[in-house]
Formats: sequence, C-alpha cells, structure tokens
Amino acid sequence: MIDLRSDTTSKPTPEMREAMARAEVGDDVLGDDPTVKRLEARVAEILGKEAAIYTPSGTMANQIALRCHLRPGDWFVVEADSHVLRVEGAATAGLANVAPSLVEGRQGRFGPEDVIARVPRPHPSIPDWLAIAPKLVWIENTHNGAGGTVWPLAELAKVAAAARKEGMAVHLDGARIWNAAVATGTPEAEFAAHCDTISVCFSKGLGAPVGSALAGPAETIREARRYRAAYGGGMRQAGIIAAGALYALENNRARLAEDHANARLLAEGLAKIDGIALDLATVESNIVVLHPTEISASTFVDRAEEAGVRMLPLGANTVRAVTCLDVSRRDIERAIEIIAALDLGA
Ligand SMILES: Cc1ncc(COP(=O)(O)O)c(C=O)c1O
Repeated sequence: MIDLRSDTTSKPTPEMREAMARAEVGDDVLGDDPTVKRLEARVAEILGKEAAIYTPSGTMANQIALRCHLRPGDWFVVEADSHVLRVEGAATAGLANVAPSLVEGRQGRFGPEDVIARVPRPHPSIPDWLAIAPKLVWIENTHNGAGGTVWPLAELAKVAAAARKEGMAVHLDGARIWNAAVATGTPEAEFAAHCDTISVCFSKGLGAPVGSALAGPAETIREARRYRAAYGGGMRQAGIIAAGALYALENNRARLAEDHANARLLAEGLAKIDGIALDLATVESNIVVLHPTEISASTFVDRAEEAGVRMLPLGANTVRAVTCLDVSRRDIERAIEIIAALDLGA
C-alpha cells in the first residue's frame, strides 16, 4: 500500500527511535526535563524568538496562541479555509470564545488590502461601540487547505505591516513552515520575524511521532504555559518524544526538497490522466490537490485504495495526495501507474 493521505503518517526511523530511547528525561511540568528544555531552546533559536513551549499537537499550539492574543468576544482576521477554523474541533468558538473575521484567500494567501477592509472605520452615523476592530491577523504558511501553497516572504511582510499599522498582532500557523523555508530558500526565522508568535509542527514533514511548539516573546510564552496546563497539555517525562522532535529538526529539514520534487513528479503524472483535473501551478510544496472529473472524490479514493494507493477526499470532487519521508520516488512512479490504470468513468 502506498500511503499518500498525509505527511503525518510517517513512522520514526531506527535512528530517531534510538535518540528517543537514549533521551534524558525528568518531570517537565516541574521544569525538570532537560531534553524538552533543549528542544524549546533550539526551536526558539531557529525561529529567532525569545522563547518556545513544547505542546502535544499543532492544534494545541494554535489554540494557546489564540488565548494569548485574544480575550473572549474578540475578533481575529483569518483566511476562510484555515486549519484553525476547519479542523480544530471548532475550538475557536468552544474554547477561545473568539470570532473569525473572514478573508476569502487566493490559494490561501491574502493581501494588506484584505486586512484593512476588515477594520471598521469611524463614521458619525455609526456608534463607535458597534465598530469593533479585530486584534489579530492569522496567517498559515504553508497553507494546508489550499494544497500546501507557500506565502513568499514579501507578501507575508506586507500583510504583517498592515496588521501592525492597524494595531493588530500577527500569528503565523507554521505547522509546515519548514516546507515554506525549503520551497522559497527563505530561513524560517525571516518569516517568523514579521510575526509575534509562530506555531510549528514536528509530526508532519519532519517525521517525528509527536509534538509541536509555540514560539514568541518570553512573556507570551510564560502565559502560554498556563494555557497549556489548562488544556491538559502538561506532560511529564516528555523528553522521550521531544528527543524525536529534536532529531527531526536537526536531520529532516533539508530533505523536504525530496518531498517537494516527489509531489511535482506525482502532479505531472496525474495531470496527464484522463478523468483527472489538476492545476500544476497550485503544487508548491508537498501537497497535491486533484479533482476527478467523472466520479466523486470518495469513489476515486475508494477505487485507488483498492488498487493500492491511499489518498484523502477533501470535498465532493477534491482529493489530496501528500508526500513525506516514508514515500520514495519509486512509490510515486508506482502510484502514477496504479492511478493511470484505474477506471475513472462514472
Ligand atoms: C496548518 C496546520 N496547522 C495546525 C495543524 C494541527 O496539527 P495537529 O494535527 O498536530 O494538531 C495542522 C495539521 O495538519 C495543520 O495542517
């Protein structure tokens, strides 16, 4: 079976498991775990931030960020198809009690004009208490829902500058910032420099089994420790999993270029198949989005799985295929052959 459902499906390699087995550990809730401390310091260093906090998941890192930046009843400007809205258990409403001020993105990206348009302007006919300004702008890079699309630094910088001008903070959901860095040649810290906080994941393209981090100013990360505790994210001898994340951080970033090349190879192969519509221009990192033209996404995924290739249906006629370190070039060549041989007719 060739598994192209997600870059979260990879298994730790023997070397990573070895690093995890040898990890020095302690009670991290009491501040005693040296491996977690090392990971947090290294993440802060790579991202150019004062501090970082290790969390069990990207969802928790994002949800903690919302709590740090906003109070119940606040607005934040966010692209409509963002992960924080789509697949985090509706925690924006249920836990943070904040409201999205939606921007319709273009491949997940938006511009300073979209931020400015979300800010109510005073007018004599509108009471000022009706004009509630958003307090935060949320950027996702790479953008999962749009198919791993990348914000170039210049575009992100313009949006961040507009946010600041309007008095808003900026959070970057950088679950796949490592992919954005490799795709653009821009170091992660340069993206992070325009943002107050950034969340990152080790369990996606980097191949670690567990964990994410939130990085930002020391004071914000101190506050984040309280919210992590409130959400049940305090872990004890977490050095065992943090060692996997550290290993991933040091060894698996540069190789993401292979995943991007494999995604391109896959996209080019699939685009030639009758019964599949695929816009090659949307393939910017390790995610390929395709549309069966004659059958539904779920029928396409079922037929492909029966033949040996697993993918995820994203919508009625949208399917996602993702490359990662457990998927080789040979797997991709084979996946193209298998999909080309499928009956894609209604
Ligand atoms: C952009 C983005 N942010 C956050 C997350 C959440 O990460 P986790 O699955 O670790 O909660 C994901 C997961 O796929 C993601 O794609």
